[in-house]
Amino acid sequence: MSATFWDRFADRYARQPIKDQASYDEKLRLITGLLTPQSRVLDIGCGTGGMAAALAPFAAQVVGIDSSEKMLDYARAKARGVANLRLVQTDLAGFEETGFDVILALSLLHLLPDWRGMIAEIYARLPEGGAFVSNTVCIADASWKLRLLLPLGARLRLMPPLQCFSQPALETALRDAGFELEKVWNPGGGKTAFIIARKPRYS
Ligand SMILES: C[S@@+](CC[C@H](N)C(=O)[O-])C[C@H]1O[C@@H](n2cnc3c(N)ncnc32)[C@H](O)[C@@H]1O
Repeated sequence: MSATFWDRFADRYARQPIKDQASYDEKLRLITGLLTPQSRVLDIGCGTGGMAAALAPFAAQVVGIDSSEKMLDYARAKARGVANLRLVQTDLAGFEETGFDVILALSLLHLLPDWRGMIAEIYARLPEGGAFVSNTVCIADASWKLRLLLPLGARLRLMPPLQCFSQPALETALRDAGFELEKVWNPGGGKTAFIIARKPRYS
């Protein structure tokens, strides 16, 4: 997706308070549980950088990438003085660095027309034993009213176009790519799937 929507939306996104603090704290706890002081973390679509900055004290290095310069402006403010947090304006295709043990795509997959391709690319980039953490809105599981309203919101440019897939389809895509699902959780019992997927060790 072009960065245009997110450049336009950045100020509003940055002002939004965390909707469910308890779920956010639990996500943070689960992700930090994957880290050691040697870990290198890649946060794809890091947005305004809140999670990347929160993880930095628990890892050797965190790199946040995002296609939106405006979203990254907010992230840069949070990264000031955090020596092990680096931010790069790019999408994954334009980012060649490797060696990440944990890769995050939080509130991202449902934005990508080729979300399956992104899962495959992340699998390819992780080492054996590496973890992929995603937080994905599964629109196909939402009410028919919401499924009708979302394309309208996108057409009115109030929100980005969202891909419509179900949680079973997402879980199948992760398994088909080769991942083992270590944790599947629906915060607040909703239609958002928080999934920790692991690239198996073959030896
Ligand atoms: C909904 S926000 C999520 C931000 C953050 N991960 C969070 O959980 O708050 C989606 C972010 O993904 C970025 N984005 C969308 N498509 C992208 C792509 N192909 N590559 C990198 N970033 C992308 C947008 O610019 C935006 O900042």
